[in-house]
Amino acid sequence: MTSALQFTQNLTATPTSAQRRAEILADPGFGKHFTDHMVTATWTPDAGWHDAGIVPYGPIALDPAAAVLHYAQEIFEGLKAYRHADGTVWAFRPEANGERLARSAKRLALPALPVEDFLASIDLLVRTDLDWVPSGGEQSLYLRPFMFASEAFLGVRPAHEIKYLVIASPVGSYFSGGIKPVSIWLSSNYTRAALGGTGAAKCGGNYAASLAAQLEAAAHGCDQVCFLDAVERKWVEELGGMNLYFVHADGRLVTPELTGTILEGVTRSSILTLAKELDLDVEERRVDIDEWRRGVEDGRITEVFACGTAAVITPVGRLVWDGGEVASPVTTADGVGEVTGRLRQALVDIQYGRRADTHGWLRRLA
Ligand code: COI
Repeated sequence: MTSALQFTQNLTATPTSAQRRAEILADPGFGKHFTDHMVTATWTPDAGWHDAGIVPYGPIALDPAAAVLHYAQEIFEGLKAYRHADGTVWAFRPEANGERLARSAKRLALPALPVEDFLASIDLLVRTDLDWVPSGGEQSLYLRPFMFASEAFLGVRPAHEIKYLVIASPVGSYFSGGIKPVSIWLSSNYTRAALGGTGAAKCGGNYAASLAAQLEAAAHGCDQVCFLDAVERKWVEELGGMNLYFVHADGRLVTPELTGTILEGVTRSSILTLAKELDLDVEERRVDIDEWRRGVEDGRITEVFACGTAAVITPVGRLVWDGGEVASPVTTADGVGEVTGRLRQALVDIQYGRRADTHGWLRRLA
């Protein structure tokens, strides 16, 4: 199906110079620099989605009473566009992001944006700002579609005016130290989500709620925080913005099952498929925090890693909690475990066009 939304074009009169862009792309960091344009669209109950277009990147005017500023009616997505060695540019499973945005929209009482319109918005922004797609090793153009309640109204109800935007940021590694094991603080004071809540939706509120725990993690010298379930406080859920995997010595790969409180990561789901192809036995099931602690201690768990679009696949080193810690064994020079490394390589090789895309995961953008 093709997009029903018509996008107008209003290009910037002052694009970033080629020299400045080259300086940025030489060391983009993560989420610090943005391309010259963005996509915007508006939704109202009567007109549906309308006023769609590509415009110069820049601040947006918001009424101080805009509902998002008060009640956080907001959702977002994260996906990447990759430049292949032949210069072509591809998105990785953008349909999955479009479908998840629609699920998140439902949970946050926001209007659904048809997946075709989501794809058209991604295509348009990447094609317009094509020169911003980096070509350095493991660099990409991170795309951030998001939707929020812009209606100026202080009553608590689903807003009657919604904005959809897509911005793009050239990125390198999510963690400033590159690919090296991250340390995890196990939060016992906070949980991330409860059944019936918004844990499975990609909404800003979930990330805001993770920040106090993230501060605790930092205070304990850790990079990231791990949340347990909100009822029994013993089942491993996810990190502040990434899913978790456990590699067992007997060849099993285990990840917490989707219970309704865990975000259904696109990278998480891609790893499930790739692992089977790499002859790993995959298990999606509940993971007791003691299984992690004891498994690492007695060698039954040989590797732990986190995954997400931004961080790709990142090895987990220490797990620290109030009263103790365990550290995954370091078996390779770079600290990336053998299975973690194989899965990571398979995934990025598909994303960068170096391995056959047998699942039709890539969508050509340019
Ligand atoms: C992503 O992985 O793309 C996310 O949205 C999570 C955030 C940690 C950047």
